[in-house]
Amino acid sequence: MPNISIAIDGPAGAGKSTIAKLVSKSMGIIYLDTGAMYRTVALKAIREGIDTLDREKLSSLVRDIDIKISYDGEEQRIFLEGEDVSGKIRTPQISIGASNVATIPEVRIKMVELQREIAAQNSVVMDGRDIGTYVLPNANLKIFLTASTEERAARRYKEQLEKGVKDISLEDVKKDIEYRDKNDSSRSFAPLSKADDAIELDTTNLTIEQVAEIIMKYAGELK
Ligand code: CDP
Repeated sequence: MPNISIAIDGPAGAGKSTIAKLVSKSMGIIYLDTGAMYRTVALKAIREGIDTLDREKLSSLVRDIDIKISYDGEEQRIFLEGEDVSGKIRTPQISIGASNVATIPEVRIKMVELQREIAAQNSVVMDGRDIGTYVLPNANLKIFLTASTEERAARRYKEQLEKGVKDISLEDVKKDIEYRDKNDSSRSFAPLSKADDAIELDTTNLTIEQVAEIIMKYAGELK
């Protein structure tokens, strides 16, 4: 059977990764979190003291960057030059940095190359901002998840508290999300947008179980 691909796009906190994990698990295919790649580029830039909006320096930084993805069971791990940075990329500073480096065409071209390679070799559920519009325009199923800014901020805040992060306020999380929404939607190269043939789902008033049930129906039809 040829490889299948499922694209799940949308803004931060819309529920992409939770749904992508459920769908990939139930279908027995891999889940690729493309945001982790932009986060890893941001981590490298920040470590090297490079401004995450400096196009020239970022273009040269990604030219031969060594980013590898592997799977620990179903869990995606991401490696920067052999170092497992999966945990280190989940900070508010890296979220903003990722959104900044993601505006740079040279960075995107490099990351998309890696993403398409993985999709060419495996059946995959991929989540991000431009998967259905740019990375995998021929994906077998495209989903675009949204939710109100308030709801997305509340979900992210709860997630942070559960992770034990203390020095953070709901207002900070909301500001971070608003900054990234604006940056991600307004960039000229492969912005966050819904593909014409994507199924759009507003998850504001839905539970994860309800969203999963709807998406799994569509995914089930691919089998
Ligand atoms: O998990 P969350 O939605 O907070 O963010 P993420 O998916 O880890 O992505 C971090 C940042 O990377 C986003 O704000 C986007 O700017 C960028 N990104 C992108 O431009 N294209 C993608 N396919 C995935 C992420």
